[in-house]
Parts: sequence; C-alpha cells; structure tokens
Amino acid sequence: MFNVYELPEDHRALRDAVRELCDGKVAPNAAAADELGEFPQASYDALRAGDFHAPHIPEEYGGVGADALATAIVIEEVARACASSSLIPAVNKLGTLPVLLSGSADLKRRYLTPVAAGEAMFSYCLSEPEAGSDAVSMSTRAVPDGDGWLLNGAKRWITNAGVSDYYTVFAVTEPGARSKGISAFVVEKADPGVSFGAPEKKLGIKGSPTREVYFDNVRLPADRMIGDPGTGFRTAMRTLDHTRVTIAAQAVGIAQGALDAAAGYVQERRQFGRPVADFQGIQFMLADMAMQLDAARQLTYVAAAKSERNDADLTYFGAAAKCFASDAAMKITTDAVQLLGGYGYTRDFPVERMMRDAKITQIYEGTNQVQRIVMARHILGG
Ligand code: CAA
Repeated sequence: MFNVYELPEDHRALRDAVRELCDGKVAPNAAAADELGEFPQASYDALRAGDFHAPHIPEEYGGVGADALATAIVIEEVARACASSSLIPAVNKLGTLPVLLSGSADLKRRYLTPVAAGEAMFSYCLSEPEAGSDAVSMSTRAVPDGDGWLLNGAKRWITNAGVSDYYTVFAVTEPGARSKGISAFVVEKADPGVSFGAPEKKLGIKGSPTREVYFDNVRLPADRMIGDPGTGFRTAMRTLDHTRVTIAAQAVGIAQGALDAAAGYVQERRQFGRPVADFQGIQFMLADMAMQLDAARQLTYVAAAKSERNDADLTYFGAAAKCFASDAAMKITTDAVQLLGGYGYTRDFPVERMMRDAKITQIYEGTNQVQRIVMARHILGG
C-alpha cells in the first residue's frame, strides 16, 4: 500500500546503470566539450553503447521502448554529468516525437529505426529569427510541387543542427490560415538545398551545436509530410507538452550535479579551523538547495507519468515542471558557485559550467514566461 508513491524497482536500477556509465564515460568529457565548444563524440558513443541515446523509441523500431519516466531518468542522469550530452537523448526525443505522434507507419519505420540503432540523430525545427515565442508567425513556406513540396526558409536556434541527419520542420502550407495553415515534414540533412549557419557562440551547453538551418528550394516527396496538411502546429505543441518534461529532467540533473559538487566541497574546505560545512549558514543553503531540488524532481516525475499516460492535463504539468525545475536549477547552481567561493567562479571546478548550462533550461522549449501563459490558460479554462 505505502510503496505506491515510490519509483518502481526497474526505474531505480535504470538510474544506477545510467549513473555508472555517465560517471565513467560522460563526465570525464564534459569540461573539454564546454571549453572547446565541441560535440562530445566519446559521450555519444558511450550512450549508444549503453542504449541511452534515444531510449524512448519503441521496440518495434529497434528501440528499448523506455516509458516517459524512464526516459526522463536517463536524461536527468546524463545531465548530472554533462548537460550538453543530455541533449542527445532529449533532442532525439524532441525531433522524433512528431513522427511518433502523427507520422505514417512508413515514416516511423524509415526514420525511427536508424535513430534507435544510433546511426542518426533527429532535431526539431520550429523557431525562426522573427518567430520565437510567437511560433504561429513562422514564414518558412512549403508550396505544392508536382506530387510533393518545395520548401524555402530559415530556422534558428536548432539544437544539434549539423550533427543530426534528420529534422522535423514546420512550414506554412496555407498562408493566412494561422495555426491551421502549418504542416510538418521530415527533412534530411542530405536533401539538396539544406545548409547550416555558423555555430552560435553561447553562454552554456557549448558541446551541443546550435545553428541556423536553411532550406533553399528543398524538394520533398509527398510522403515526407507528418500527418495531414494543416495539422503541423498542433503536432508541434503536443510534442512540446511531452518534451518540456524532458527539459525539466535535464534541469533536475544539472542541479543535482551542482548540489553533489557543493556538498562534497564544503566538507573538504577548511576555514576558521574547521570544515565550512560545520557552519549553519552553509547548512541552511544546502538544505534549501536540496529541498528545491526534491520538489522539482517530484513535479517532473508526476509530469513524466502524465506524459506516459497522455493525460489531458499534461499541457499544464509539462509547463509547470519545466518552469519550476529550470528556475530551481538556476538558483541551485548559482548557490553552488557561491558555496565554492572564488573556486566556484573558476573552470577548475564544474559548478560554473553547470550554472551557465542551467540558464538555457529557463529559455528553450518555450521561455518560462510562455510556460506561465500555458499554465494560466489551463487554470482559467482556456
Ligand atoms: N496541444 C495541442 N494543440 C494545441 C496545444 C497543445 N498543447 N496548444 C495549442 N494548441 C492548438 C490550439 O488548440 C489552437 O488550435 P485551434 O486554432 O484549432 O483552436 C492552435 O494550436 C493555436 O494555439 P494558440 O491559439 O494557443 O496559439 P498562440 O499563437 O496563442 O500560441 C503559445 C500559444 C503557447 C504561445 C505557443 O506559440 C508556444 O508554445 N510558443 C512557444 C514556442 C516554443 O516553445 N518554442 C520552443 C522551440 S523548440 C526548442 O527550443 C527546442 C530546442 O532546440 C531544444
């Protein structure tokens, strides 16, 4: 009776397995990926070897078929070691989910199988230079061309652009119809007319390339459309309902990494003749960090369970978990830097990287201001 509100045994075992792999084979690459701004190939290889690179893909496409909670735990544990690397399973889920939710059987088979096998990654192209929070106002355009489509436009802030082979791209197919005039397509990096901008110079997640993606008369066969014409925006929003949970998990993982580092440091660091952990001021900070982290994790796991069940209130819970966990991660990582004092401000310790990495979780997959709009609409019955 009283074990109902606990992680199932197999999820706890999964956490242990991911943590062991990440401590050994992902964490050691994190500082270099950040310092050099390079995609952590060795971490990707380790995640592939452990089958943690795209755990959400169902078994029928060769994946491990992890449920949404298990996928969140994988992303959380990878983020605890390296936030950039956690974008490998997170963005593979973001890119493929439109296909999983709305794609044809043929699209699923063709594009999910290579991702599950670790042969390709999959990114998500919604935002544009002039259409960020106001995603409906996109101008990327697909026009009918024979039995297919001709795609033109530019997408911005595309995570893992260039390293991904496949892209879900949202484009206007019926101008003037607003959200009902947007359709979704699978575009391949190898499609003639696809090119990429220079990598953005970012504050954090430097090991995960963020680039513009350009489409110059890209010819798409009709079967590359995901779902029916005009259903793309709905698919885009429903995808984000699920994947905001994964960003919450990423934030929880980054915060856990910072708390672990800070809790270790304050027991080693001696001032005034004793470990600084003996001082109540330090203890109160640690307690607040742990309390916020546990609250964030609980909300994230509830949202993950709702994602798995496809509950009607997932829209609210996905937004709430992402907003709360990312705000908590920003606070916790900033406090971790404070607890390490001058050392925390240097690259000799990982907490300044974690603080920089945490910031993006308040911004991407919808700013936390957008999350509050989404939550308020739910509360007000909109
Ligand atoms: N599920 C299904 N359908 C939904 C939905 C949802 N969660 N939310 C909205 N819709 C539908 C609405 O029902 C509506 O359909 P009808 O016209 O048939 O009624 C349609 O979509 C338009 O919805 P809204 O009227 O609510 O649209 P809006 O223009 O007011 O925008 C918004 C709402 C919440 C602000 C939305 O634009 C939004 O979420 N913006 C943020 C975009 C975002 O998150 N971008 C992140 C990019 S991805 C990224 O960062 C990834 C990365 O690289 C890591």
